Amino acid sequence: MSINPLAQELNAIIKSGNSHLMEMLSKTGRRLFFPKGILTQSAEARQKAYDKFNATIGIATENLHTMHLPSVMKSIQGLRTSDTLTYAPSFGIPGLRQAWKDAMIKKNPTLKDKQISLPIVTNGITHGISVFADMFLDPDDVLIFPDKMWGNNILIMSVRRDAEINHYPLFSSAGGFNIAGFEKTVRMHAHNNYKVIVFLNFPNNPTGYTPTEAEGQKIVDILTKVAEEGTNVIAVTDDAYFGLRYEDTPLKESLFAHLCNRHPRMLAVKLDGATKEMFVWGLRVGFITYNTMVDGDPIPFYEALERKTAGDIRGSISNASHLSQSIVLRAMLHPDELDREREKNILILKSRANKIKEILADRKYDDAWEMYPFNSGYFMCLKMKTVNAETLRVHLLDKYRVGTISINPTDLRIAFSCVDEENLQELFDTIFMGIKDLEAQKA
Ligand SMILES: Cc1ncc(COP(=O)(O)O)c(C=O)c1O
Repeated sequence: MSINPLAQELNAIIKSGNSHLMEMLSKTGRRLFFPKGILTQSAEARQKAYDKFNATIGIATENLHTMHLPSVMKSIQGLRTSDTLTYAPSFGIPGLRQAWKDAMIKKNPTLKDKQISLPIVTNGITHGISVFADMFLDPDDVLIFPDKMWGNNILIMSVRRDAEINHYPLFSSAGGFNIAGFEKTVRMHAHNNYKVIVFLNFPNNPTGYTPTEAEGQKIVDILTKVAEEGTNVIAVTDDAYFGLRYEDTPLKESLFAHLCNRHPRMLAVKLDGATKEMFVWGLRVGFITYNTMVDGDPIPFYEALERKTAGDIRGSISNASHLSQSIVLRAMLHPDELDREREKNILILKSRANKIKEILADRKYDDAWEMYPFNSGYFMCLKMKTVNAETLRVHLLDKYRVGTISINPTDLRIAFSCVDEENLQELFDTIFMGIKDLEAQKA
């Protein structure tokens, strides 16, 4: 299949900025471009034909205003029809992209002197992963995840795109991040492949673990070394639960910030979103942001990557919800208020995490389960010692009407994000009772 001249132009810009990127893009990624079709022609018309006739785009207007139904607009108070009902650009609305980037730098001061792309808006982080896969994954490409991971990655990248997922045990026997296991797995695949893709999801789903600053530094050093030795490394941070930090030890900033500008063979990709950071799960506002080392002016380089990314979005969902983007942007225009409100919610979650540690310190549970380390996020995980986690899950549901998630035959995930603090003791005692019931049945 021939490559569209617009894709050729973008490829040339990317190649001259960093030729390794061309080896990292998938076949689809190399072919992607942002069409000079309806959207581009319409954008040109908005600039030049605003006071005459703009007969370009497939929406309806009357007296230059967006046609609408009052029955719809009555649910949208305080936002204009032009900011909610009309199409958003495939890249996302410019104000939101800039506001998200500014906030990202504020939350991750290490980014201050680094060149990164403008974030591109995705339909939640799930879609961000899918866009990443379109851009960078070919069938049989190697992906590296810990053994405890968010299962939807399998559907997005293994089932839908045929990539090969490889695991390392997340925890060392001493109880922290398994640096040795991580290094061994990354190195083994780096020896046998031109590129490795490493997903870093912290706070982790399902365990609620975030590495310490020292562990984070080692992760970055290992990936940098592998890139120095000649393998292309794509390091993807899934920062869905960013900021939900309940102790002093976990990393303060995203690993993305530490991975920036490390080596020309390293591409850092940040997937994040308003989803959990702003408690707006159903609004579906996520972002994808890039960094690598660029020869010459980084601006056209990042614009080329952004155009390919927006081309992928145009070719799948076309654009993310304008209404959702406007709601998120409006909240972000008052950062102090937003931070205050967010801090209040985080403190509630932190207090629950502390309560769980207090409850689980009781030795009576020792024969029933082991608690995986957790210090952040929405979840914690218990490793069952005597019963099957799925059998327990079904039993808890049937007998006690308590819902949990079994991850595999031993691990049970508890979303303490959804259980009020005063109910936590009863929750763990009920799980304990469920285990005792099953043990009695076995005896
Ligand atoms: C690790 C991880 N990544 C991504 C997502 C999905 O986020 P979104 O709702 O923005 O698609 C989740 C949600 O559960 C998650 O746990």
